[in-house]
Amino acid sequence: MKVLGIESSCDETACAVVEDGKTILSNVVATQIPFHQIYKGVVPEIASRKHAEWILPVVKQALKEANLTLDEIDAIASTNRPGLMGALLVGLTFGKTLAWATNKPFIAINHMLGHMYAAHLVNDIPYPYIGLLVSGGHSIIAKVNGFDDLEVLGTTIDDSIGEAFDKVSKFYGLGYPGGMIIDRLAQNGDPKAFSFPVPKLDKGDDHRYDVSFSGLKTAVIHQADLFLKPGYEKTNENICAAFQETACKTIVSRLLRAVDDTGIKTVVAGGGVAANSRLRSMLAERTDLNCIFPPLKLCGDNGAMIAGVAYHFLKRGDTSPIDTTASARIPQFKRGLKNLEFFGRR
Ligand code: KG4
Ligand code: ZN
Repeated sequence: MKVLGIESSCDETACAVVEDGKTILSNVVATQIPFHQIYKGVVPEIASRKHAEWILPVVKQALKEANLTLDEIDAIASTNRPGLMGALLVGLTFGKTLAWATNKPFIAINHMLGHMYAAHLVNDIPYPYIGLLVSGGHSIIAKVNGFDDLEVLGTTIDDSIGEAFDKVSKFYGLGYPGGMIIDRLAQNGDPKAFSFPVPKLDKGDDHRYDVSFSGLKTAVIHQADLFLKPGYEKTNENICAAFQETACKTIVSRLLRAVDDTGIKTVVAGGGVAANSRLRSMLAERTDLNCIFPPLKLCGDNGAMIAGVAYHFLKRGDTSPIDTTASARIPQFKRGLKNLEFFGRR
């Protein structure tokens, strides 16, 4: 079955065709970065307008690269949450309209389920595993029992990890998007130059797997001099290396706690921050674990992850009604909240 997947939740206009949830026939990602760069961050209104302008050519290009006509597509899927409302609405409305006009099934997809699925496009991964979802909007540690069955164990109590990368980069004038730039500058820095604090959320077991990045962000931005170690220089490279080291340590320590507590030895990462080279090397050091990262092209936003996970809903006969709407947020995780409320599609 060939599914056309559309993704427009943030600043990438993306469309892919994936066969049977596995074979990527095309994967077109049109990035809007140059249009947001001058503002040092994503401008929602510009994002929506660019999506509206680009969606048709991007979908046409995805069909062309897959060497298929629209008639040969079995179903259409779009991200419907979470993300920027105006941006989401473009891809969702386009997908629903296309499905309606061609009388094909439509499937609305939770973006985070897409990120969790990305590694499955190139690996056969049995469930359950411990999922690590790290993006611009989310930092989630979950026990993953199936493609739409995630038990959230921990999340951030304030900023997401990607947000921290982006804010640090913006403050030091390093550029946008921050994560990739910090990752690159950190290669020439010394992580030992600063002793930034690793947040402690250890009072009782309430936050056993939770993380926090707001304190680290403040320390790096406003108090870097306080944490500079004698004999080291305050260079951008050193700041990036030490910040990245602390941010990765923060999330990896909680992730490993989940691994130890559950005894599950497979870890699967997803989301833009899963591209981070230090996060990858830190987990690679744990040779006793099977840590799986998506290829770099599938870490950031793309249509293939949406088409891939949609296939599994479709196979189960689970399609979305034409009045399915978009939603900017998924409910903040609270203990006791059922995972379906967090990750469910409607
Ligand atoms: O998944 P994604 O493309 O969009 C969201 O769903 O948010 O993630 C974007 C985030 C941004 O915060 C970006 O700075 C971060 O991923 N990112 C990275 C790297 N590449 C992208 N963060 C750290 N290291 C990277 N190499
Ligand atoms: Zn994303």
